[in-house]
Amino acid sequence: MEFHVWILVFITCLELTSGDLWTKWWTYQGISGPDYWGLLNKEWNLCSKGKHQSPVDINPKTLVYDPNLKPLRLDKHRVDAALMNTGHDLLLRVNSTYEPYFTFTGGPLSYKYRVHQIKLHFGRVDQIGSEHSVAGRPFPIELQIYGYNHDLYNNFTESQSMPHGIAAISIFGMIGEEKNTEFEILVQASQQTIFKGDILQIGGFSIFHLLPDTDSYLTYEGSQTQPSCMETVTWVILNKPLYVTKNQLSILRQLHKAQEGLPQVLMENNFRPPMPLNRRTIRTNIAPKKQEQNCGVKKITFYEVNDKYKVT
Ligand SMILES: *[C@@H]1O[C@H](CO)[C@@H](O)[C@H](O)[C@H]1NC(C)=O
Ligand SMILES: *[C@@H]1O[C@H](CO)[C@@H](O)[C@H](O)[C@H]1NC(C)=O
Repeated sequence: MEFHVWILVFITCLELTSGDLWTKWWTYQGISGPDYWGLLNKEWNLCSKGKHQSPVDINPKTLVYDPNLKPLRLDKHRVDAALMNTGHDLLLRVNSTYEPYFTFTGGPLSYKYRVHQIKLHFGRVDQIGSEHSVAGRPFPIELQIYGYNHDLYNNFTESQSMPHGIAAISIFGMIGEEKNTEFEILVQASQQTIFKGDILQIGGFSIFHLLPDTDSYLTYEGSQTQPSCMETVTWVILNKPLYVTKNQLSILRQLHKAQEGLPQVLMENNFRPPMPLNRRTIRTNIAPKKQEQNCGVKKITFYEVNDKYKVT
């Protein structure tokens, strides 16, 4: 009960503080954590009331094959960007004046989306970290590439609250031996963005080479996974992981979420837990195995997680 009293005090404070200050107060743990985001700020009430929220757990058995889903198409050129420690996450922000724009389209998307930023969510231990999960199992890290609808809107901020405003490509990271060159650039650079507010310029970064080599994906309509939880995001989750090393993860786990000089708390575990799918469908372009016909009885085939994805 006392817990709730606390929250009310927070809301009273809200009216007295400036919006900007307030937006820095949400966290991933405790009384300003995901369960309370919707109560912290009226503009965030979708975080608690929304029925199309993200992330979600993906139950392979309920995936629906959609033969109309074509492969995603991404630009291939390199971009100039800035790696930032936001206190909530590690973020690679593409230079907004950089041309040519880096865009993606195709797949489930009817519009062209211009990449604005890439966010990293990761855990303190290898068993947790990603926001989306598969068959109840999270991955140690998830990379999310956010683009805004460049056909209809002017910028990311405007798009966030508009229909079909945002598309996000999600990549799960799994532990492996080999290093992806681009991911390694982010990891090395992160050693210079240890504290909140630290920024490091990264020139000639290849978003394309961060992506696993696959045309298969899952897609559903959802939301931003941070306040204000706007339900304007088309999610495209790639069906192959990016391999990351244990050493790379341990470097990321050294990031802090406070400014230098303040009492330090590690950034790790910066993920929102899965939200109910409700009536939404998760579609995929992975063709099911040919259905066998036996004496006129059609066998129903299900999707299943690959052995590699099973908990070891
Ligand atoms: C973005 O790119 C432009 C043109 O290349 C450059 O002049 C500018 O300094 C860059 N901005 C940042 C924040 O890196
Ligand atoms: C985004 O676009 C809107 C509409 O044109 C404009 O009012 C706003 O200032 C822009 N925001 C940024 C951050 O550029």
